[in-house]
Amino acid sequence: MNNLSEKITKETIQRLKREKNAVILAHNYQILEVQDIADFTGDSLALAQEATRVDADIIVFAGVRFMAETAKLLNPKAKVLLTHKEAGCPMADMITGEQVVEFKKQHPNSVTVCYVNSTVEVKAESDLCVTSSNAVKIVNSIPEDKTILFVPDQNLGTYAADKTGREIIVWDGYCNVHHQMIRIEDIEKARKKHPDHTILVHPECKPEVFRSADVVASTQGMQDYAAEHDNLIVGTEIGLVRKLQQLYPEKSILPLSERATCINMKKTSLREVLLTLLEETGEITIDETIAKKALKSIDAMLKRS
Ligand code: 13P
Ligand code: SF4
Repeated sequence: MNNLSEKITKETIQRLKREKNAVILAHNYQILEVQDIADFTGDSLALAQEATRVDADIIVFAGVRFMAETAKLLNPKAKVLLTHKEAGCPMADMITGEQVVEFKKQHPNSVTVCYVNSTVEVKAESDLCVTSSNAVKIVNSIPEDKTILFVPDQNLGTYAADKTGREIIVWDGYCNVHHQMIRIEDIEKARKKHPDHTILVHPECKPEVFRSADVVASTQGMQDYAAEHDNLIVGTEIGLVRKLQQLYPEKSILPLSERATCINMKKTSLREVLLTLLEETGEITIDETIAKKALKSIDAMLKRS
């Protein structure tokens, strides 16, 4: 997109937003042009909290499906539009609602915790939802005599177990970006090359990776850390690294892995934001009975956050 068409696209988005009483929420991994046009950017928890506060007829969600679904659950009156209908999270599809039911049968009297990166059906079968920024706090709030089941992310579940000392039975799901593209070798190389840098990683990375890092945080946690510190090596999806480099051009902020790109987060372009608003495509609809059950696990999370 050349400068002139980018300018026209942005102006048209702004005009449509006013005319339609719409807001744009964007995740921290979106391309910079999309984050720049958004009314609010953040991690999964911040976006969910913002969705409860938004007073608009339309929420355009630049992110992946489970995030737009969470916004719809929390703000059912708004028309929630996902900017790309095929922007999913492969980890969210690594367990179904029926598999959660089976998992619970195998472990009666347990508390089921689902990562927000999950389908509405999975949330509907879970007791508590968590995000990467509050998983430890929420696991800590569960009575000690309870067995904890954690779906679908084995790594975030293991991280929460490490931090709380609780026994957690984890499902074997994972995020292909963090699990496969950010490796212990990347940390070893980074330590040798930049011994004066602090290494931050996301808790979706493998245990050997998060146990060797200096700081483990959600994308918003990383952004908050970067506001206060310099000389950072950031182990998460490249979109956040680019955002931090844009926010703090005077600081040394390097990616731990150049390969860590989430193709689903990159499906949304500025043009797609415009088309979504113009044609009101990608509307999220959720079966009412499932929505009611799923909302319980999210509400339980927000109350404890
Ligand atoms: P955050 O909630 O930390 O932004 O993480 C969302 C996600 O999908 C990470 O891969
Ligand atoms: Fe899902 Fe991983 Fe992409 Fe996050 S980075 S949306 S967990 S695939």
